[in-house]
Amino acid sequence: AISAAQFVPEGKDWAALRSASCECRGCELYKDAKQTVFGEGPVPARLMMVGEQPGDKEDVEGHVFVGPAGRLLDKALAAVKIARDEAYLTNAVKHFKFTERGKRRIHQQPRRSEVVACFPWLREEIRVVQPELIVCLGAVAAKALLGSSFKLTEHRGEVLEQDGLRIGVTVHPSAVLRAENWTEAYEAFVADLKALKKSLQ
Ligand code: URA
Ligand code: SF4
Repeated sequence: AISAAQFVPEGKDWAALRSASCECRGCELYKDAKQTVFGEGPVPARLMMVGEQPGDKEDVEGHVFVGPAGRLLDKALAAVKIARDEAYLTNAVKHFKFTERGKRRIHQQPRRSEVVACFPWLREEIRVVQPELIVCLGAVAAKALLGSSFKLTEHRGEVLEQDGLRIGVTVHPSAVLRAENWTEAYEAFVADLKALKKSLQ
């Protein structure tokens, strides 16, 4: 099976993990993307947030959540008074997956096999960051940590326990951007974050 495992220097510190991730060929996604986008933030951190995968802008710049979804996330975090720079932000998959349409690169959801292949990186990030709470942004991240049958719509705003980890779940900021009723979707996202924040002591 495809896997990042042979590229992951287990037990090493964050800097060693990040630099090794730049050489990862654990699945096909490294081929078309510009670069690996590893997680960023304080290590350790009380709060970790996990998105799906870098987007177009993240792939170009090499940093997490610097595009439109990141701006929406910043706005929502500010609304609930969570300091972005106190959280460790990462993604379930470390390379941008896309199809080309003219000059545009259109996001494609990673396959389950790609999420599973990339998981050793996320597992090591959790080991070094030691978060009190992990917030999954969207179903791809939630399924990476809670299993493929996890139903986000039944649990959004809740904190679940799994393998000694506390895992909160909400939607992905991109889903808010795409929503027909933007205001309603945004307010529900903020309400989830507010509820999840309460479980940080
Ligand atoms: N969407 C994500 O899930 N992660 C990013 O880093 C950017 C957009
Ligand atoms: Fe490695 Fe993950 Fe990139 Fe695939 S997506 S090449 S597993 S870092």
